[in-house]
Amino acid sequence: MAFTGLYSVLFSAPDMKVARKFFSDWGLKKVSDNRNGAVFKTQIGSEIIVKPLSAKDMPPPAREGMNFREMVWGVSSKSHLAEIHKELASDRDVTVDKDGTLHCLDPNGLGVGFRLWKPKEDLKLPRTKINSYSEQERVDEVSTFYEQAKPIRMGHIGFVLPDLKAAEKFYKDRLGFWLSDRYAGGAAIFLRCAAKSQHHNLFMIWSKEGNTRYHHTAFEVRDIHEVFGGGIAFDKKGWATEVGPGRHPISSAYFWYFKNPCEGAVEYFTDSDYVTEDWKPHNYRINRFSEWHLVDGIKPPDDKRPRPSMSAAGKL
Ligand SMILES: [Fe+2]
Repeated sequence: MAFTGLYSVLFSAPDMKVARKFFSDWGLKKVSDNRNGAVFKTQIGSEIIVKPLSAKDMPPPAREGMNFREMVWGVSSKSHLAEIHKELASDRDVTVDKDGTLHCLDPNGLGVGFRLWKPKEDLKLPRTKINSYSEQERVDEVSTFYEQAKPIRMGHIGFVLPDLKAAEKFYKDRLGFWLSDRYAGGAAIFLRCAAKSQHHNLFMIWSKEGNTRYHHTAFEVRDIHEVFGGGIAFDKKGWATEVGPGRHPISSAYFWYFKNPCEGAVEYFTDSDYVTEDWKPHNYRINRFSEWHLVDGIKPPDDKRPRPSMSAAGKL
């Protein structure tokens, strides 16, 4: 019984033309595009789906005007999928597609689904070779410079929610996600969908004001140079930084967040902690968003565009 990761994220798009360009420029491969929406794939085959606001075949928004509509988690076996169906059908409506994909709403009204999914595993994606004082991996060879990020997979998704306790019960206690870390006082939780996994696949922050908000989806790239090079290339295409680049103390990952025209943000990340059954969750007493971060991207020497003031950036 195991989840195989985050398979898809579905948005309704206020402007389909802008959304199509955004996810293509992000480095995803567009695999279908018609009047009912467009599908973009990461390298392992996970999907971003965008549909026009008028599309009927979408779960309802958790809050009026919200454009996040659904996340679908991959499951490794039919028996696990059947267990999930039985568990969730006990207290909510669960619909089943022809291919067996389950759809329902979670306790905060977020669309969530489950389907059989085996991510592509035969990818050859070596990181940049590193030279250090004690080890030389790269000899008589110039290093890698990335002119475009090509996201490998969606590593995690995040939300701001009014009922974090109910969310924890649903994903951890009923579905079997694992707790990786939390903020003291119930301010936020970091969950992972398998015992052996990147530090988190689902990040949820408590909203004091009772708002439900989609926060971000994070896309893994090969190494720190792809975060920087891919981010610079995406910035040059005219897309705005939300915050970054920088480094998270929780998960240790490098990040760079950009504003998503559908809503919230998307993130390039790399070098996350990898944890197992032996990992002991922490109870962090302070908000530890970053070890360091830039508020508004990197300004390469050939970039003459003005940058917004520091106070205008970095809302995350
Ligand atoms: Fe993230």
